[in-house]
Parts: sequence; structure tokens; C-alpha cells
Amino acid sequence: MNIRPIEARDVDSILAIQSASPEIAQWTMWDYARVARGDMAGWVAEEKSEIDGFLVARRVVTDVEILNFAVRPHARHGGIGTSLLRETLAWGATFRAEKALLEVRASNLAALSFYVRHGFEVTGRRPRYYSAPIEDALILTAVLAK
Ligand SMILES: CC(C)(COP(=O)(O)OP(=O)(O)OC[C@H]1O[C@@H](n2cnc3c(N)ncnc32)[C@H](O)[C@@H]1OP(=O)(O)O)[C@@H](O)C(=O)NCCC(=O)NCCS
Repeated sequence: MNIRPIEARDVDSILAIQSASPEIAQWTMWDYARVARGDMAGWVAEEKSEIDGFLVARRVVTDVEILNFAVRPHARHGGIGTSLLRETLAWGATFRAEKALLEVRASNLAALSFYVRHGFEVTGRRPRYYSAPIEDALILTAVLAK
């Protein structure tokens, strides 16, 4: 499995994974085109020319903010999410990021379990942050090595 930056040719595969992942923000092809252009950081996990997962993040001063992240349902639990997260944190280390953070639906127990396993903690809650369905967001934060 190869982790590499998102390119324009990946957008259709990313949208297919996103459609199969109702837990995450449903971005448009234009949003991912911006990632491919370099407006945000993003990586795909590729196996034999198939895209199995993606992660989009951005730098916010000294923080890494994870904006969207999913692995193809049939490819989950195989370490792909961990590889994408590691790549993101390695990128954060290049600018000495102090924290990594993200928002997640309070009911998304799979993601919560994944992030806690990787050293994230719940550091906040935004009541009724999400719509369709209305739900609180939990803010998860990991302190990175200084
Ligand atoms: C969160 C996600 C990206 C993890 O990707 P992944 O490739 O399955 O992750 P890994 O295989 O590296 O790690 C799996 C670990 O995460 C946790 N985990 C993942 N899914 C889980 C679930 N349904 N229930 C409990 N724990 C889960 C477990 O600790 C698991 O370890 P295990 O496989 O030994 O049980 C994936 O579940 C996903 O795409 N979910 C839907 C989209 C989403 O919620 N994105 C995050 C929004 S911020």
C-alpha cells in the first residue's frame, strides 16, 4: 500500500468512498480539486492502482486540523487509516505542529475508538453542530511532540 498526495485524477475515487461514508462531511468535487491544487494537504492510500482511503488536513498556525478522512468500507480494520494518520502527523512534524485536532459526530464510535487508540482525547463539545441528523460534535485533540 502506497500513501501519496491527492491528485486531480483521484477525485472520483474519493467521492465514491465519501458516498459510502455518511459519517463524514459530504464535500463536492470542487473541494477535492482544491486539495489536489494544494490549497489543503491531502493523501490517498493506493493499492494496485485502487484508492482505498483518503485524508484531508490543513495547517492552522501551529496545529494540524483533520478536515475529512475515510477508508473504503471493505478495506477498514486493515491499518489503512493508521497509515494515513501517520503520514499526516509526519507532515505536521515538518512544521513542528503542537497539536492535531478534529471534530467528529458524537455517535461515531468507530472514529472515536480509532482516535483514542492513537492518543487523541475529547477536549470539547459543540452542541447541535451537525445537521441531517442534528447532533453534537466532539472535539478531539492530540498533543504532538515538541
Ligand atoms: C475511522 C476510519 C478512518 C479508520 O480506518 P481503518 O482503516 O479502519 O483504521 P485502522 O485499521 O488503521 O484502525 C482500526 C482501529 O480503529 C478502531 N476502530 C475502527 N473501526 C471501529 C469500530 N467500528 N468499532 C470500534 N473500533 C473501531 C479500532 O481500534 C481498530 O482496531 P482493530 O481493527 O484492531 O479493531 C474508518 O473506520 C472510517 O473510514 N470510518 C468512516 C469515516 C469516519 O468516521 N471518518 C472519521 C471522521 S473524523
